[in-house]
Amino acid sequence: MIRINENYLKLNASYLFSDIARRVADYSKKNPDKEIIRLGIGDVTLPLPPACIVAFHRAVDDMASEKTFRGYGPEQGYDFLREKIAEFDFRSRGARIAADEIFVSDGAKCDTGNFQELFADDIAIAVPDPVYPVYVDTNVMGGRTGGYREGRYTGLVYLDSNEENNFVPDLPKKRADLVYLCFPNNPTGATATKEQLSRWVRYAHENNALILFDAAYESFIRDDSIPRSIYEIEGADEVAVEFRSFSKTAGFTGTRCAFTVIPKKCRAFAGKKKPVFIHQLWLRRQTTKFNGVSYPVQRAAEAVYSDEGRKQVRQLGDFYLQNAAVIRKGMGALGFPCHGGVNAPYIWIRGDRDSWAFFDMLLDRAGVVCTPGAGFGRCGEGYVRISAFNSHENVERALERIARALK
Ligand code: MLT
Repeated sequence: MIRINENYLKLNASYLFSDIARRVADYSKKNPDKEIIRLGIGDVTLPLPPACIVAFHRAVDDMASEKTFRGYGPEQGYDFLREKIAEFDFRSRGARIAADEIFVSDGAKCDTGNFQELFADDIAIAVPDPVYPVYVDTNVMGGRTGGYREGRYTGLVYLDSNEENNFVPDLPKKRADLVYLCFPNNPTGATATKEQLSRWVRYAHENNALILFDAAYESFIRDDSIPRSIYEIEGADEVAVEFRSFSKTAGFTGTRCAFTVIPKKCRAFAGKKKPVFIHQLWLRRQTTKFNGVSYPVQRAAEAVYSDEGRKQVRQLGDFYLQNAAVIRKGMGALGFPCHGGVNAPYIWIRGDRDSWAFFDMLLDRAGVVCTPGAGFGRCGEGYVRISAFNSHENVERALERIARALK
């Protein structure tokens, strides 16, 4: 008899963003004349930077000639891209990361989701609440949690992020072996200071724990005192893995390119307390299960680090941050307390009703899609997330419509 992995039965019926997409599609079907403005899922709207497009075209031409054609590439990415990443994203900020500590992939969602495979079934896992649902759902699938009760899975350690702690969670009171952190945060837009990250790095050392640090939104940081990488913290290279993405940085959501950084020193443990280097495990995993990102896409990503590419990427970020400022100002003027949206493309807004009711109200009365905070966890109840990824015009129109709907 073929039997299923029953952990899947513990999951909510559908993934948060699929659920929202279904509700929006239902609404459109019932209201075919209503134009919808999407400020829900964080999907970019501006095209790839011109420098990336030129490199992309050139690499497609390489594939057309026998001399320059490439077949399978290295699973962990081409050196030309790994070298640039190490130099521009890390060494330029004083983080000692080498090219062979970078694993190029097709998305931070896949990497943050797949990474749990490396760890034992019975480790204690801490996740922030609210949280990007991928961290939780993939651990549910992997059988590391109990059932779902009152908005939480039993067996997980939830780290409350709320207005009292400025959406930067405190250290766990219970043991945690694996800790997921995300800064700038999805969904709250909060950022962590050097001191706050240092506290987590110290915790990981003292408790033989590991931090999975999702930095997919680092390119939106404009305040130079905020660390962009956890490796700016002394000692993090032994206790932290970092996930990055070109999706939001350079508009690669549809093109797919990201990377995971695993310093060679980064360790977990086997048996009673034998250190095992995670770099070797992930290399083994990737060479078995992954055949790398396509050559033209990696060439396009490499162009992000050229002189023009760096300028253009900065402009992309500035464009969405201008939207974020407009959303903060507009929603604030309507009387809703707003968080995030300064060094992040998400604005976390406290509504005056429950999250899904706010979502429904914005969709029905304003034709605007947001993301209900409760979809990110129990602490998200009462909030909605508005994304800055859209045109200036649509953001302005969305705010006008919301203001009208609330009158
Ligand atoms: C989000 O809206 O939270 C993100 O776009 C989802 C993702 O990057 O997978």
